[in-house]
Amino acid sequence: MLSPGTNSPDVVIGLEAALSKAWHPVGTVAELAATPGGCAPLPVRLLGRDLGIADSGSGPVCFTDRCAHRSVRLSVGAVEDGCLRCAYHGWAYGADGRCVEVPSLPDGPIPARAAVTRHDCAVAYDLVWVRLDGSVPTPLPVHTAWDEPGMRVLSGAPYEWSASALRRIENIIDLSHFAFVHDGSLGRRDQPVPPVPEVTRVGPELRFTYDPPAVSDELSEHALATATEYRLVMPTTVDLRFTYPDGRARHLWFHCTPLDASHCRTYWTMARTDDHDGDDDAYLAFQDRVVGEDEPVATSHVPPDWLPLEPGVEISVHTDKVSIEYRRWLRDLAFDALSGPTAFAHALGLTGGEAALDIDGTTR
Ligand code: FES
Ligand code: FE
Repeated sequence: MLSPGTNSPDVVIGLEAALSKAWHPVGTVAELAATPGGCAPLPVRLLGRDLGIADSGSGPVCFTDRCAHRSVRLSVGAVEDGCLRCAYHGWAYGADGRCVEVPSLPDGPIPARAAVTRHDCAVAYDLVWVRLDGSVPTPLPVHTAWDEPGMRVLSGAPYEWSASALRRIENIIDLSHFAFVHDGSLGRRDQPVPPVPEVTRVGPELRFTYDPPAVSDELSEHALATATEYRLVMPTTVDLRFTYPDGRARHLWFHCTPLDASHCRTYWTMARTDDHDGDDDAYLAFQDRVVGEDEPVATSHVPPDWLPLEPGVEISVHTDKVSIEYRRWLRDLAFDALSGPTAFAHALGLTGGEAALDIDGTTR
């Protein structure tokens, strides 16, 4: 019998394997550029691993943050001539991760095992993305507003919570919390019954639409409370499009990166087709207000790790339909990740002719 909130060991192993096959942002391009001299490695964390990212001169690279010599963090070193040089004894690692120089042994030999593990790394949406396990050609998650003509896209400051990335994503797609957590900002406590949408799997996305109760009279003009198209790109990206009756559109995008089982970092953007000369800070401030309303509850789950995917561990009701479908798909992904790359690709909808995205985010 599992305790409330827990998962079986198989589910946890499968979940971590599934999350390892997905791309996650580990930092912003601006954060990487702001390191000392603009070329020092940036220490980051993903799925419980300490990593470093560095600009090699031909784009960012990601490596396990540990020197093979005496296990010093390479992120306290520097990039020199396209190589990563350890701060302790100066060993230098080349683009493929192999050690190319041991200063104390100028005539060699360099030990054959002297290397650091490199990971897939890419840039999109002004973020540096990493994929720990490249055994499945998973695409970068779509951002439907990033290059859309007429959209003014604002990047919000990333924030870290002591919460599971999966709990945070479930919080974003939860329709029945608006009336309580966001009473007066996105919902009203006297209208607690949300619509129960049809939820479909399309390629790697869980899609549904939401028509909020009529609460707009009391809401800020910066509130996003109108017909909403949800695209949850499995496993931890949400792309939200808000369409107003007069044709204006606004957009929110989130990716929640699992730092480990109970800590996450959320990257997000807000976009609008109207009011391009308006005060950007007011739009960002409204989102900060909403996040501030969510944080006390979304960081208080017991226990804080992952999300219970075993049937019956928590009690769901009919109006939890979206999160039920999210959990169901996560569980599928967890078990299919253990079965192998083909099963995982199938579970993620990457087979069967669905459009996929190349590394630069373009559809192919
Ligand atoms: Fe890195 Fe010695 S610990 S070179
Ligand atoms: Fe919320």
